[in-house]
Amino acid sequence: MAQNALQIALIPGDGIGQETVPAAQQVLLATGLPITFMTLAAGWETFQQQGTALPAATVDALHTCDGALFGAVSSPSQRVEGYSSPIIGLRKHFDLYANLRPILSVPVLGSQPDVDMLIVRENTECLYVKQERWLEEGESAVADRVITRRASARIARTAFEQARLRLRRNPQRKPLVTIVHKANVLSLTDGLFRETALAVAADYPDIAVEEQLVDSMVYHMIRTPQRYDVVVAPNLYGDILSDAAAALVGGLGLAPSANVGETFIVAEPVHGSAPDIAGQGIANPIATILAAALLLETLGEPAMARRIEQAVNTVLRHGPWSRDLGGDATTAAVTAAVIHQFEQ
Ligand code: NAI
Ligand code: MG
Repeated sequence: MAQNALQIALIPGDGIGQETVPAAQQVLLATGLPITFMTLAAGWETFQQQGTALPAATVDALHTCDGALFGAVSSPSQRVEGYSSPIIGLRKHFDLYANLRPILSVPVLGSQPDVDMLIVRENTECLYVKQERWLEEGESAVADRVITRRASARIARTAFEQARLRLRRNPQRKPLVTIVHKANVLSLTDGLFRETALAVAADYPDIAVEEQLVDSMVYHMIRTPQRYDVVVAPNLYGDILSDAAAALVGGLGLAPSANVGETFIVAEPVHGSAPDIAGQGIANPIATILAAALLLETLGEPAMARRIEQAVNTVLRHGPWSRDLGGDATTAAVTAAVIHQFEQ
């Protein structure tokens, strides 16, 4: 048990984030751990009210917290002067260079059996950080894709360390790191990622390593997800792969992630603000509840994290199920069921 209260920031953001983050907060309260919460503003609504999607007050307050639980924000597809995504801002500000996305079989209809992989997505560079500019007076647009040896090396090291950690937790496992790239075409950028990751692999003779081109990775992951253990990829490939992988194991309503740096962590569901169902009280809170468990695990409470995961699994097995899983349970009903299991 933690001696001092954990200080956890809650950033609900927009859309269903405003429903799933309070749900996860209820589960955190039910743990009985000494936690103090601080709710902070960010997102599209915040941008409309304050002219910035990530107010300085939010960033300042985060510096006083142990970690944060982020819901989701709505980012307009059209360009909006002055708007930039706050989650990307947070990843940059706190140098949250690793995005860990566990993909686990769940006991629901439509989940593939025996899947247990971890996607380790580089989080600070590649196309996703949005270094874009106009050329030719708006007739063409350019995005700079920067890949560095430094960022590639540290994300590869994270992947191999995670493979070791997973092996320690389950000695039956055959540890494997799959390096995803497209170096056959992008021989400089992806070539550097590949070469750097393979060099790091030499420090981990106990972990098997393989490489796979991103397009064939999608194919193989959908055909035989069971063969993968840890998958490491540059930012945008990792983003796309992890949404696809979530579809194999029950969908976006169940998929958590953690943005991790040396000194801070922001856990969040993989899903976005889901405007199509926002405000109706029907969003599945489980992805955010599992993100809260990842947060507790990183903050030194792994036993409590396991208990939350077990409570979630029991609910997934017996219901009640939310709409995305074929049921009709509300956010509140699913949350209450998880808490009920937790308190058994
Ligand atoms: P989305 O992940 O919000 O939704 C995709 C589909 O999955 C929708 O049909 C939605 O109803 C469903 N879904 C997602 N989460 C669910 C849950 N917990 N329970 C039940 N159903 C769920 O992706 P979409 O629609 O492409 O994006 C919506 C907005 O979210 C956009 O503005 C986008 O920029 C933003 N977004 C934000 C992210 C973040 O804050 N980290 C990540 C992804 C998208
Ligand atoms: Mg995504």
